[in-house]
Amino acid sequence: MERTFVMVKPDGVQRGLIGEIIRRFETRGLRLIGLKMLRIDEGLARRHYRDHIEKPFFPSLLEFITSSPVVAMVVEGKAAVQNVRTMMGALDPTQAQPGTLRGDYTNDKQLNIIHGSDSVENAEREIGLFFTPEEVLDYERTLDRWLVSP
Ligand code: TYD
Ligand code: MG
Repeated sequence: MERTFVMVKPDGVQRGLIGEIIRRFETRGLRLIGLKMLRIDEGLARRHYRDHIEKPFFPSLLEFITSSPVVAMVVEGKAAVQNVRTMMGALDPTQAQPGTLRGDYTNDKQLNIIHGSDSVENAEREIGLFFTPEEVLDYERTLDRWLVSP
């Protein structure tokens, strides 16, 4: 089992896509183990996007990600990091496949509705930025035995 950090970005919240995004993870068999809505401040944005701070698009990204509330979540499941990345689709709109979240709902490099961690290491780091240990819940769903073979 693996954990990843997922965020519905301001445009996804504004467009009413929170439910659709969560639904896709649930029906895929991934389990939601942390969930909150918050408005990201500049400090958190800089920590979250620390690898992008020097990039030319960072000022615009900072303005966007702090502009309106986001929904942060921790998603658990088999190969959760890569599975979520695959379900998100590519950053480049011309490469985002239909059937992926970005491929179905977006056509823009910045307004791309969703963030998902790109590695197990970054997932742990990002979960720690957004959630306290108590806010990440350990529980079983009865349904899991029909979704994950032993
Ligand atoms: P990145 O981590 O490369 O993409 P992903 O979201 O697929 O992990 O970039 C982080 C965010 O930075 C991306 O979601 C949108 C923004 N961004 C731009 O606005 N322009 C760009 O050219 C790049 C590379 C990223
Ligand atoms: Mg990234």
